Amino acid sequence: MFLTEEEKRMRDGSEGAAAGAAMDLLIRYGEALDAARLCDVRNVAGTMTQPSPVKAALVRQGGWDKAFAVINLDCDDDIEIPAMRVPTCQLQHGFGGDAAGVVPYPAENIALQAQAESFYGRRGVNILATCTPYQVGNIPVRGEHCAWMESSAVIYANSVLGARTNCEGTASAGAASLTGKIPCWGNHLDGNRHGTHLIDVRVPVDGFMEWGMLGYFAGGVAGEEHPVITGDIARPDLAELKHFGAAAATSGGVELYHIPGVTPEAPTPEAAFRGREAPPPVTYGPRERRAVYDTLNSQGTSAGVDFVLLGCPHASVDQVRRVAAELDGRRLSPGTELWLMVPRALKDVADRSGYTGVIERSGGRVLGDSCPAMSRAAPRGTRVFATDSAKQAHYLPAILGIEAWFGTLEDCVHAAVTGRWEGGLP
Ligand code: F3S
Repeated sequence: MFLTEEEKRMRDGSEGAAAGAAMDLLIRYGEALDAARLCDVRNVAGTMTQPSPVKAALVRQGGWDKAFAVINLDCDDDIEIPAMRVPTCQLQHGFGGDAAGVVPYPAENIALQAQAESFYGRRGVNILATCTPYQVGNIPVRGEHCAWMESSAVIYANSVLGARTNCEGTASAGAASLTGKIPCWGNHLDGNRHGTHLIDVRVPVDGFMEWGMLGYFAGGVAGEEHPVITGDIARPDLAELKHFGAAAATSGGVELYHIPGVTPEAPTPEAAFRGREAPPPVTYGPRERRAVYDTLNSQGTSAGVDFVLLGCPHASVDQVRRVAAELDGRRLSPGTELWLMVPRALKDVADRSGYTGVIERSGGRVLGDSCPAMSRAAPRGTRVFATDSAKQAHYLPAILGIEAWFGTLEDCVHAAVTGRWEGGLP
């Protein structure tokens, strides 16, 4: 792999041992990928503060420097971790102290994470603590090279913002934060960003649930490649694109899609395929829509609902407002809990707008930082949950061994106030 003189010097320790170890990792990673060179990044979204037993053991052994060296740099040396070289944010992690008592989650995790926030905050890591950093101020510009983790954020950055990132891992993102470099391959290259599959939508797609189902279908069709969506679709908003992308990254491994006339690199279908011939279209019609709905509800058999989960990916303020409007003046069924996951920074907006108060008066909770899938935590005794998120309906039954129902926000709130699932495909 070609290295600039600056990169060679960094590898050899000109910027300190930690940056040298980071550059060494990136060179090994880039060569394994057959990348021709590294590219400059000024925007890293990774995870450093997420608590785990391995991390706790490393901190006991050699402090937070040791934990970062081993987990984020794949380096066993005793090195001191300096300030991050480029702007870096922490994505979602574990639950914070304000969830203690609400969430059955180990107190030692909360304490470990608080220590981590302090350590990394002093090194310039912005503790955004959300899977949607693009909702709370970290918005890369079109064409900007980034090093992001979190599949739902990566697909949003590539497709909706037109930024360029692969789905990085803990170590590569850590190394990028100390060097401002990442291997230049995959989604970073012009030649790899063209559409590969054409999906012709023949049923009206409008609203959060419909966009989630279409995303789930698109991921199943395209796998790890790039679907182009045309047909009977209403112009999506931020929440719908967030939900579409998360679902496509769940059923497949989609990191980039195009919607002609909506996403920035595809003003037309021809532009989406970048001059290549479009493949034969795959139809998304009533039969396919029904099949996706049935798949997402295949883990539900019991009508009684213990737990309703909203806000995956973390909710926008407008979603919080809609949940509050649905719950206004109503009470949750005894024995049913409702959690709405939000970026912590937006919870402040929800608090000041009065939405949190409405939700809490109904018996619901507005929580930041994490989610049940990420932290493997749901209300005690949960057997059946309902959600408006295709991603959670896909993952949570396997992670927690519980039943799942998938439907609209209104279906989910209805389940929360009645304790019963009565949703269905409109
Ligand atoms: Fe975010 Fe958790 Fe969903 S991290 S994307 S709310 S699975």
